Amino acid sequence: MSTFRDGKPAAVTPEQLAGGADTKKSRTSGVTAWIKAASVLGGLTFAILQVVPGPPRTNPPVVPGHTIGAQLRMNQQISATLRKACMDCHSHETRWPWYSHVAPMSWHIAEDVTTARKAMNFSEWSTGAGRTPASAVGILAAACANVKSGRMPLPRYLLLHPEARLTEQEKDSFCEWTNVEIARILSEKHKSAAAEAEAASAQGKRGD
Ligand code: HEC
Repeated sequence: MSTFRDGKPAAVTPEQLAGGADTKKSRTSGVTAWIKAASVLGGLTFAILQVVPGPPRTNPPVVPGHTIGAQLRMNQQISATLRKACMDCHSHETRWPWYSHVAPMSWHIAEDVTTARKAMNFSEWSTGAGRTPASAVGILAAACANVKSGRMPLPRYLLLHPEARLTEQEKDSFCEWTNVEIARILSEKHKSAAAEAEAASAQGKRGD
């Protein structure tokens, strides 16, 4: 409803004069009602999301003999780096923060942890990534490359965990460690292959 018609002020009716203020008031309260309805709806949706069962957020038991610490050598600094920057996703020792229980955030976090544990699990090293020398070497090389390129820890994790951001020096130390372990795994593999060959040839000489 316009008060101007053809560029000229339209005649104002006595009702409009009397009810001008009221018309404005009822329009504002219409908007307020909409905002209220929308927030009630939003609140309801949020509440419903909370009771929808999302993916589980669990920490399966840690078997001491299966951990990366039991299989690989590492100093205090490396184990601290793994703990602060990787283990919330890549182990069974996840610290689940309060917002990991609030949907829909909780679903994204649980999914990250599930896929991360599948890719590399420090709690199940000997049964997973570290099961064979070849896979251990591959995942250690990938870990160094991912840390160097800043692909890991996941950038979205760093937003809420600034303490997990690694310095250049920490990244270098991390890769020095992966290189040392890769060399050790390969030399042990070489040694055991040589021992096997020796045992086989000894057996051959004995003639049985
Ligand atoms: C917020 C969770 C999170 C954190 C923290 C995290 N990662 Fe990951 N990581 C993932 C996810 C999810 C995947 C699987 C999907 C992918 O590769 O992007 C993955 C995959 C990997 C892979 C396998 C990738 C490949 O190329 O095969 C390696 C290696 C890895 N991460 C190393 C690390 C290291 C090392 C750290 C700590 C410095 C770390 N990640 C910290 C979530 C995380």
